[in-house]
Amino acid sequence: MTTQNFTGKVVWITGASSGIGEALAREWRARGAKVILSARREAALTQIAGEWQDAKILPLDVAQTLAAPAMVERTWSLFGRIDIMAHNAGVSQRSAAAATPLATTREIMETNFFGPVALTKELLPKMRAQGGGRIVVVTSLMGKFGAAGRSSYAASKHALHGYFDALRAEEWANGIRVTLVTPGYIRTAISQNAKDENGAAHGALDRGQAGGMAPEKCAKIIVDGVARDREEILVGGLEKFAVFAKRWAPRLLSIGLRGRNID
Ligand SMILES: NC(=O)c1ccc[n+]([C@@H]2O[C@H](COP(=O)([O-])OP(=O)(O)OC[C@H]3O[C@@H](n4cnc5c(N)ncnc54)[C@H](OP(=O)(O)O)[C@@H]3O)[C@@H](O)[C@H]2O)c1
Repeated sequence: MTTQNFTGKVVWITGASSGIGEALAREWRARGAKVILSARREAALTQIAGEWQDAKILPLDVAQTLAAPAMVERTWSLFGRIDIMAHNAGVSQRSAAAATPLATTREIMETNFFGPVALTKELLPKMRAQGGGRIVVVTSLMGKFGAAGRSSYAASKHALHGYFDALRAEEWANGIRVTLVTPGYIRTAISQNAKDENGAAHGALDRGQAGGMAPEKCAKIIVDGVARDREEILVGGLEKFAVFAKRWAPRLLSIGLRGRNID
């Protein structure tokens, strides 16, 4: 797909009840796509999609991976195809590794990693049968390097890069394309919803997010990147250059990050 025009394309977006996912839904719809919105909070989805007659909502908890086959069947039946799956639902972390309960690490992995994997496995045979499709995966700068307070979150996002890079290679011949999106600071509720050392919501809007890019701008950059068939999209402010530091001067980055809170 190398056109700016998504007219008639069916796009399923998880985490569409707020932040980047909501902005993605608005952007894709503005470019002619039929959108299916998923997240746990049905009321928020209803409010967003209520403005549009042609949008559908499908409330779901991506961490409930046993439900993935039924969820994919239901979603597929809404329009009879899915051209783009945008795995955007995610939860972050605000706690040191030593203080983080294993249960919280598992919860983060279930939502951020196993959720997208379970849905993708169900989608692949259907996408192949329709002649192809695209999987968009919203990871993070934390999918490229780790930082204090983000051990489990960074693990879940690194896992996405490994899994979906491999999937891209496997599914190329089947017409399935993979785009990995690595945002830096985006002005959303991600820090408020992040898990603290008690597994509860952190509750604070951190400095990074407060000063971050508007989700609408982020969504536009993502959709532009998808239209250009990009395999990776790096989006954010100056913080995104840390990815280049990790590649070309990893020791310097490591020294810079020692003990440093990246809030
Ligand atoms: N904002 C940033 O600075 C930033 C930076 C890098 C990466 N990201 C990534 O961007 C993605 C979107 O986050 P955001 O910044 O837009 O934050 P957000 O406003 O907190 O949105 C997170 C979305 O994920 C949904 N979600 C969370 N757990 C879910 C679950 N178990 N099942 C289904 N939906 C679930 C939430 O909806 P419900 O609560 O209704 O389920 C919400 O719609 C995440 O993957 C995040 O890791 C964000």
